[in-house]
Amino acid sequence: MRKIFVNTDNPYEIIVHKGIFEYCDEIIANFFDSRNTVIVTDETVYKIYGKIFKDKLLKKGFKVGVFVLKAGEQSKNLNNLSSLYHFLSESEITRDDFIIALGGGVVGDLAGFAAASFLRGISFIQIPTTLVAQVDSSVGGKTAVNIKSGKNLVGAFHQPSLVICDPDLLSTLSSRVFCDGMGEVIKYAVAFSESLFIKLLNQANIYDILEEVICDCINCKKNIVEQDERDLENRMKLNFGHTVGHAIEKYNNYTKITHGQAVSIGMVYIMQQGEKLGITKKNETEKLKCILKKFKLPTNTCISWEDIFTNSLGDKKRRGDNITIVTVSEIGKSRLLTLSLDEYKNFLSC
Ligand SMILES: NC(=O)c1ccc[n+]([C@@H]2O[C@H](COP(=O)([O-])OP(=O)(O)OC[C@H]3O[C@@H](n4cnc5c(N)ncnc54)[C@H](O)[C@@H]3O)[C@@H](O)[C@H]2O)c1
Ligand SMILES: [Zn+2]
Repeated sequence: MRKIFVNTDNPYEIIVHKGIFEYCDEIIANFFDSRNTVIVTDETVYKIYGKIFKDKLLKKGFKVGVFVLKAGEQSKNLNNLSSLYHFLSESEITRDDFIIALGGGVVGDLAGFAAASFLRGISFIQIPTTLVAQVDSSVGGKTAVNIKSGKNLVGAFHQPSLVICDPDLLSTLSSRVFCDGMGEVIKYAVAFSESLFIKLLNQANIYDILEEVICDCINCKKNIVEQDERDLENRMKLNFGHTVGHAIEKYNNYTKITHGQAVSIGMVYIMQQGEKLGITKKNETEKLKCILKKFKLPTNTCISWEDIFTNSLGDKKRRGDNITIVTVSEIGKSRLLTLSLDEYKNFLSC
């Protein structure tokens, strides 16, 4: 069993272990004094894992409410958040009690924001069930819902009290959802860890090293979050590939292309341009492409640089006439580069 301690303002532990889900009820019973909880999950996850989990908690003497969302990004909205508040209230959840987020990033973000805001903040546990959630969204305390004007626009920083991460839960993911998560895993490798990159490149079967890879990614994120919990500077490096990636998602109206695929193209685009401008070491982009192809992720786009530019203007790393992008000098080493919008245009089009 690996334990990763995250030293944020409210510190917490992430337990990573294949098969640990089996013992979740015991861990939770030892962790909290409260015996009243609400599990937030989605329909797909509830069918596979939620029902068994609820029964285990009931056997341990918990009073358990279950709030089930429809699966998918559309569920991360204010209506569901409002229904969840009512459900928590009806379930007599008090400030001594806690919420359990059992699911992917959608469940984690919505349940986390409910925990951040209900009764001005209660505890919550993350049990992430997708690769994205295990390596990214369950760590770092960003919680949010989407509104009509955009994704994640209403949210809060609220760290979980505990994260229980079982790589075995990923065995039921579709290969599309799994590969999408690999986009984020590769992002960590390229931006922060050459050794992780080499590991991914050399291993024939990712499942043989999954627990180790997940821990490597969590450690990358933990190090960044501990330095910059509120996303004021260095945490922006976690957005490597995301400025162009988000522009591609926006251009496609968040259809056709998944987040991981868009980030994959975004990383290649930034590295390619970086090579042309001498910011990135020669031939690094080829190495990146090679690893992305291994996980069936796309590496190019037919969207013009003008459209990428226009669709980048709403990026959260834009401040007035400047935009900060994440570049890579060589695999494992990223840095922030603040450009004027004209310079950014030149960067994209050179
Ligand atoms: N808070 C953060 O720091 C952060 C970071 C990255 C992403 N996010 C957010 O995370 C969300 C994306 O997360 P996601 O990719 O996990 O999507 P998701 O939660 O929608 O899950 C993807 C699909 O996988 C299914 N699923 C989940 N676990 C499963 C399992 N074990 N077996 C079978 N099916 C399973 C779900 O039902 C869903 O259909 C986005 O809303 C994004 O904004 C947040
Ligand atoms: Zn992402």
